[in-house]
Amino acid sequence: MQWKNRPNGLTWSGVIKNEEAKREGAARLAAELQDGQTVGIGSGSTSFLTLQALASRAEREGLSFTAIPTSIEVANACAALGLRTATLNEVRPDWCFDGADEVDAKKRLIKGRGGALYQEKLMMAAAPKAFIVVDRSKIVDRLGQNFAAPVEIDPAALSLIFEKLEGFPGLEDVVLRPAGGKDGPVITERGNLTLDLTFSEITDDAHTRLKQMSGVVETGLFFGYDFELILAG
Ligand code: 5RP
Repeated sequence: MQWKNRPNGLTWSGVIKNEEAKREGAARLAAELQDGQTVGIGSGSTSFLTLQALASRAEREGLSFTAIPTSIEVANACAALGLRTATLNEVRPDWCFDGADEVDAKKRLIKGRGGALYQEKLMMAAAPKAFIVVDRSKIVDRLGQNFAAPVEIDPAALSLIFEKLEGFPGLEDVVLRPAGGKDGPVITERGNLTLDLTFSEITDDAHTRLKQMSGVVETGLFFGYDFELILAG
């Protein structure tokens, strides 16, 4: 049967902003691949293009690699590209890459607009070397200027966390992320909810303070990670 709009894992489901720049960054990162490596694959459109660039180079040059995906979306793309995959419970990556929503001068990141922040953070914690690929629109003077900071929470803690966030330094607004085109909230791959936090200022201890709240699974504030920034385009 031919399904209309059936996802095939080889095309991105939405519009890719700044695609040309992202493709250029993807091609540059693909040059890092060495035969036999295990690579952690981030989520989002930049990571999707980078995965394709890696797979093309591997095919062209007869290199093999194992991919560790950070979301179902990217796992589907790996399957469609015929790549061998593994999980972090089986193997550690030689290196990983990902995109980001914002990067500031202190190399602090906001990630998680695509909802995969938890597994993306596990990957950053597991990989001895990480690359973050961003186009120039992601470089900001003030972290939080264009995007809210996502926080993944256990649904049982929703009301408690809203209460605890009262008076949080620099916090201006909190939104329970709605499901696109449907009633109700977005449910993450781990069965959790996402809160989007708008800040006037994000202090260096914001991630730690949030993580200390019972019911917070992970935050999209990636602070203190050592990564190489690939500025695309
Ligand atoms: C997903 C992410 C993405 O890396 C981030 O949203 C950037 O996306 P894109 O590459 O599509 O601009 O953190 O959870």
